[in-house]
Amino acid sequence: MVTGASSGIGLAAAVDLARRGDQVVLVGRDPARLQAAGDRVRDASGETPELFRADFAVLDDVRRLAEKLRAAYDRIDVLVNNAGAIVLQPVTTVDGFELSIQANHLAPFLLSNLLRDRVGRMVVTASGAHRSGALDPNDLNLPLRRYRAFTAYGTSKQANILFTAEAARRWPEIHSHCFHPGVVRTRFGNESRLVAAGMRLLPFRSPEKGAETLLWLVNSDPARLRNGGYYYNRRLRRPLRKAADPQLAARLWTASAKAVGIDA
Ligand SMILES: NC(=O)c1ccc[n+]([C@@H]2O[C@H](COP(=O)([O-])OP(=O)(O)OC[C@H]3O[C@@H](n4cnc5c(N)ncnc54)[C@H](OP(=O)(O)O)[C@@H]3O)[C@@H](O)[C@H]2O)c1
Repeated sequence: MVTGASSGIGLAAAVDLARRGDQVVLVGRDPARLQAAGDRVRDASGETPELFRADFAVLDDVRRLAEKLRAAYDRIDVLVNNAGAIVLQPVTTVDGFELSIQANHLAPFLLSNLLRDRVGRMVVTASGAHRSGALDPNDLNLPLRRYRAFTAYGTSKQANILFTAEAARRWPEIHSHCFHPGVVRTRFGNESRLVAAGMRLLPFRSPEKGAETLLWLVNSDPARLRNGGYYYNRRLRRPLRKAADPQLAARLWTASAKAVGIDA
């Protein structure tokens, strides 16, 4: 099951998994892009994938998605929490959270919790941009005060790495890993003319290259991987200290559970 499967890294991963013969479930937001992604997966593999739509800016959408997935599948071998975006302007969601922390962290945190008993392994698309993170679990809306898109984004990616490590501690029966895909030419940031131009002109990675470590994590023997680890180019890396602090990870978990209304 791949979130953010309608574009970029998630779509490249879904196509590859389907080609290998895996049953792939695509989760996306934009209906037209999701349908087009489903068609691409079908053309590449001969199998028509199931499509599920949810906007992670709305936590009720995530709850409905989890209900539908639970009704449809007894077992989810791999949950790929890949959906994510950089948010150029400060936005408060209907749930009252800064949009980057909600769409990139709180929504997948909630989805993973709601599916937890069905999931065998989890792969999270994090980022080297965690270096710009300034996470404060006491105030998940801190970036709204003096908004800088890259700080808000980096904070959500810092949260992805901390979440993965804490999930490995709390849910040892699930193999949880996260990774940095490199700088990849996708629709990421394309609302910014500057980023869009950079994506077109600079020699960034293809989505297929960006998905390589994701696919390697999905297909590797978990005994050879570090549960809760952060990977880049198929190698275990040490994230910056602010994304490797177990106490911060535990505090983030408690704050996130409270934010989305579940037991910690
Ligand atoms: N590109 C890079 O250089 C880079 C580097 C490091 C990490 N990453 C991470 O890689 C992941 C995938 O990004 P990408 O580069 O492949 O970008 P992309 O082409 O823009 O794809 C992002 C995917 O996430 C979905 N998404 C975005 N906001 C959403 C929301 N509110 N609710 C539900 N789904 C949402 C998008 O759905 P729609 O089709 O509806 O927009 C799309 O399927 C992200 O987590 C990103 O942070 C990217």
